[in-house]
Amino acid sequence: MTRTLPANVYTDPLLYERERQEIFARTWQYVGHVGDLIAEGSYIACEIAGFPVAVVNKGDGLAAFHNVCRHRAGRLLREERGQCEKALECTYHGWTYALDGRLRNARDFGPLEGFDPRDFALFPLKVATWRGFVFIAMKDPALSLAETLAPLDARLEGRSFDALMPSGRLRHQIACNWKLYVENYLEGYHIPNVHPALAAEVDAAAYRVRMEGQVCFHEAPLRHGVRPVYDGLWAWVAPNLGVNVYGEGIMLERMLPQGLRGSELVYDYFFVPAVAADEAARGRILNMSETVTAEDKAVCEEVQRNIEAGAYVSGVLSSRHEQGVAWFQNFCAGAYR
Ligand code: FES
Ligand SMILES: [Fe+2]
Repeated sequence: MTRTLPANVYTDPLLYERERQEIFARTWQYVGHVGDLIAEGSYIACEIAGFPVAVVNKGDGLAAFHNVCRHRAGRLLREERGQCEKALECTYHGWTYALDGRLRNARDFGPLEGFDPRDFALFPLKVATWRGFVFIAMKDPALSLAETLAPLDARLEGRSFDALMPSGRLRHQIACNWKLYVENYLEGYHIPNVHPALAAEVDAAAYRVRMEGQVCFHEAPLRHGVRPVYDGLWAWVAPNLGVNVYGEGIMLERMLPQGLRGSELVYDYFFVPAVAADEAARGRILNMSETVTAEDKAVCEEVQRNIEAGAYVSGVLSSRHEQGVAWFQNFCAGAYR
């Protein structure tokens, strides 16, 4: 019998800090698309479990940093994406850094014995790309990005994403611990009860999930005779990325913690040009995704409240439907040890 993790993993600030350091800092995290990093000085910036990070085109490639100044921890890049000139400038006292992270000028700092600007470069991160998508890692991850995503590559075979166009970003705030949303994403057991429209398209009784390395694949047989919205491949890459491949595009879904009791979903859509230009086709996909997200949000927030109430201590996991949840909980338990 597989027991769930105890309820305190959703409410304990010390465990959340372990997750930040041992899960989010040690795994590849998707941050955006190379299309936003074409020109020298172009950048993308975001927060991952409270870590401000940035990726910059430094002219001869990409560089990634903690988006935090080495003087007194001011913020460097404020926008989600943008273009800086030849330098990154701190918004607090105006120190400037070269695009490769070296400290260039400690503005009007005055003499200070022993101060060597070479010791104050921005803290570097690892950066890698996969099929046009940009990922960073803060500490040494267990696998390379290519190794992490190899099971997904095998499923995608010769399929290319080159022709896909960025087609918008949607965000949702959810009042629950990030793991509750991930766990919900990792099983189809709840579909008949929570998602009536989706249940009309897929045969939920035959819905299965399977782990391959750090990737979870969903197998959702379609019902006879439906023209489905969700025609494609749903995958999840540990610890917090959904990769939803449709017939005519892809949506990358980040499940980001916002503190212990909040989460943000960031949906990045990419469609083939014909769908990107066709509002009705796009609307059909976006509407289904919005409906399903609203249903999942309601149930996850309710579960968080029920856990906070204190009666629930731990439960059990289905061997038929919840192997993905079991894998994920075991992965998290490794971070707490
Ligand atoms: S904190 Fe960046 S210049 Fe002072
Ligand atoms: Fe759901």
